[in-house]
Amino acid sequence: MYGLVNRAIEQLVIAHRGEDGWARVCKKADWSDEGFVAMQTYDDAVTYRLVGAVSEELGLHASEVLKAFGEYWILYTAEEGYGAMLSMCGNNIKDFLTGMNQMHARIAVTMPNIRPPHFTIKEVGENELNLIYESDRDGLAPMVEGLISGLAKRFGQRISIELIQAKSREAPKDVFRILILD
Ligand code: HEM
Repeated sequence: MYGLVNRAIEQLVIAHRGEDGWARVCKKADWSDEGFVAMQTYDDAVTYRLVGAVSEELGLHASEVLKAFGEYWILYTAEEGYGAMLSMCGNNIKDFLTGMNQMHARIAVTMPNIRPPHFTIKEVGENELNLIYESDRDGLAPMVEGLISGLAKRFGQRISIELIQAKSREAPKDVFRILILD
């Protein structure tokens, strides 16, 4: 993944555990503490190792770390020069998610090696959506939950989100049910 992702993990850890905590995470993840270049790509294994090490450092399950990271990503990217792009994509969950694939496609103009996820939105009821998440990576569904919660916070909306179908060999896509409560 692009270094931007690993840098966000670094910032999240520093915010909670300081520079010493980050140094411990790097050691556990077997990564020299040299920092990441935002626009350079790194092996996905580095990101997964970092998540594992953060989970040990914070005493949280990896899924909780990914959830927290997803929420943080919304704040982080807004601060790291992508605020206008986030604003352009809408001011509510439904509009925003409908334009998500185009948003990553625009990002791909400056990050040509990006392998973004693919989202499909199905309107189930007036305030109920199914979000289908497809990725060639595994295990990132909790991050999607965190991202959606982060977006809801950004828009001041109350939502509930639940994984109703997990990716498996029989069902190649994760499906979330999102209720928009107000
Ligand atoms: C402007 C803000 C955003 C930027 C700059 C951005 C950029 C990126 C980048 C660089 C990656 C790593 C992929 C790679 O290197 O191959 C990524 C992954 C991902 N992004 Fe975004 N993104 C943004 C917002 C969002 C939002 C709002 C969502 C969800 C609603 C989202 C969902 C994801 C997911 C789930 C992944 C993990 C990759 C996967 O599923 O395979 N992103 N994004």
